[in-house]
Amino acid sequence: MDKKYTVAVVGTGYVGLSIATLLSQHHKVYAVDIIPEKVEKINQRKSPIQDEYIEKYLAEKDLDLTATLDVEKAYSAADFVVIAAPTNYDSATQHFDTSAVENVIDLVMKYNPNAIMAIKSTIPVGYTKSIREKTGSKNIIFSPEFLRESKALYDNGYPKFSVEF
Ligand SMILES: NC(=O)c1ccc[n+]([C@@H]2O[C@H](COP(=O)([O-])OP(=O)(O)OC[C@H]3O[C@@H](n4cnc5c(N)ncnc54)[C@H](O)[C@@H]3O)[C@@H](O)[C@H]2O)c1
Repeated sequence: MDKKYTVAVVGTGYVGLSIATLLSQHHKVYAVDIIPEKVEKINQRKSPIQDEYIEKYLAEKDLDLTATLDVEKAYSAADFVVIAAPTNYDSATQHFDTSAVENVIDLVMKYNPNAIMAIKSTIPVGYTKSIREKTGSKNIIFSPEFLRESKALYDNGYPKFSVEF
């Protein structure tokens, strides 16, 4: 039997919830958020976002998926932490606000520095290198996300690596 991993997916927006739903078919997944209502909904197997496949999978599939606000529990248990927290672009400063991503990385470093952290959030060029240097961690990697909102789970399950305009 293939090894079953424990994965904490942080942020239950389009990016995080599609990944959490897909991975929880085969692995133990904690979906972490800071909004109690989202956590409650996911644990009732209702999607807090509009996405046909996420709604269907939550309702019909046998998923090992627990949504939680408890970061200590989720990060301590995780082999992998997928970071899908928001990084909004601030047009005034012309920078991405990466504070939520840094907040997650700080907590993973505190509770489980051996976990592999995969950033799916949009980050500026050079960010991964600088955050590795700042934290001293070699366990931080970046994996770009190309999904379409409302087709997030489908695009993650059937990735298409060409962009159509
Ligand atoms: N939506 C897309 O099509 C898309 C595509 C590629 C990349 N991205 C990037 O992925 C990231 C997430 O995008 P999204 O659309 O899923 O965002 P979203 O705003 O829909 O969801 C983000 C979630 O993270 C939660 N959150 C905020 N701070 C947190 C924290 N400190 N710890 C835990 N959870 C926290 C929020 O409550 C929210 O549920 C962004 O950086 C975005 O730029 C999005």
